[in-house]
Amino acid sequence: MKRIFSGVQPTGNLHLGNYLGAIRNWVKLQDEFDCLYCIVDLHAVTVWRKPEELTANTREVAAGLLAAGLDGKRNIIFNQSQVPGHSELAWIFNCVARLGWLNRMTQFKEKAGKNKENASVGLFAYPNLMAADILLYKATHVPVGEDQKQHLELARDIAQKFNNDFGVDFFPEVEPLIFGTATRVMSLRDGTKKMSKSDPSDYSRINMTDNADAIAKKIRKAKTDPQSLPANVEKFDARPEAANLMGLYAALSETSIEDVCNRFGGGEFSAFKKQLADLAVAKLVPIGERMRRLMEDPAEVDRVLAQGGRRARQLAEPTLKEIQDVVGFLRP
Ligand code: TYM
Repeated sequence: MKRIFSGVQPTGNLHLGNYLGAIRNWVKLQDEFDCLYCIVDLHAVTVWRKPEELTANTREVAAGLLAAGLDGKRNIIFNQSQVPGHSELAWIFNCVARLGWLNRMTQFKEKAGKNKENASVGLFAYPNLMAADILLYKATHVPVGEDQKQHLELARDIAQKFNNDFGVDFFPEVEPLIFGTATRVMSLRDGTKKMSKSDPSDYSRINMTDNADAIAKKIRKAKTDPQSLPANVEKFDARPEAANLMGLYAALSETSIEDVCNRFGGGEFSAFKKQLADLAVAKLVPIGERMRRLMEDPAEVDRVLAQGGRRARQLAEPTLKEIQDVVGFLRP
């Protein structure tokens, strides 16, 4: 049986990229596999967060997962800080991973920006914690958007080096699962930039909690170019905004990008945007409404997280003991 693990940061503004690139795929996987879905609050504090916002965002993301269709009984849904094994294994991986490996991580370079000296040590070591998240449960398949691919390659290197260093065959190979047509959703303001929770412009993204008016307005104002819509994907490289909007239509309607090109190619952006907005509203507004209802009654969300935390700890505990034995930590 494949074991699936994936995570999302509780940093507010869950957006269409998170939904199409990850969460929607998680929902699809729950029917077939054992899945753990983790709200990675330890990752979130690699950058300073107001405590009360972190708490609220953790509940909001949990509500988003449930509202999108994840079942709290069939899956283990929990917040990372409630399973101490993540931090413990991350420390061991800090001692396995090499500085040179982490120096190559593009996400650290992007997030730390020019002022690298001032970034937290946690932000630098972030991919080691990510490897620990997955390998603590010996998960084999990790459904993510494209931006996480490099981190998963690192997780694989760490697992391999651990196995080699200790002469064991303990950790499995980690396989990214990057599927669907929206593996990299771009900003609505700039088709060359990833849609992101941290973009200062709210017009750059569609949030899962946006109402119909907000969704329609953001799509209406989305950046385009002066030409009509491309009729085939060969034109996409030179036309990032058209590629992104048409990709969103394909993903939301679960058709191929070629179908979207055939249907809308040669047409005007304005008419296409109306149809895209209607589609996005139809798909997202019910999720947003469910999310808001769940957030009004946090007891249900907290119950799911508490139960998920208990089940995750139970799974992690025996593995952690085995890891301690492999490393040689005395368990008197
Ligand atoms: P995070 O919180 O940035 O994003 C959660 C998921 O959403 C995907 N995603 C996107 N997909 C398509 N287009 C976009 N614009 C877009 N933006 C985000 C991400 O690829 C991700 O799948 N480091 C991770 C969280 C994490 C994790 C893990 C993931 C921690 N431990 C272990 C997998 C396994 C992160 O920051 O995701």
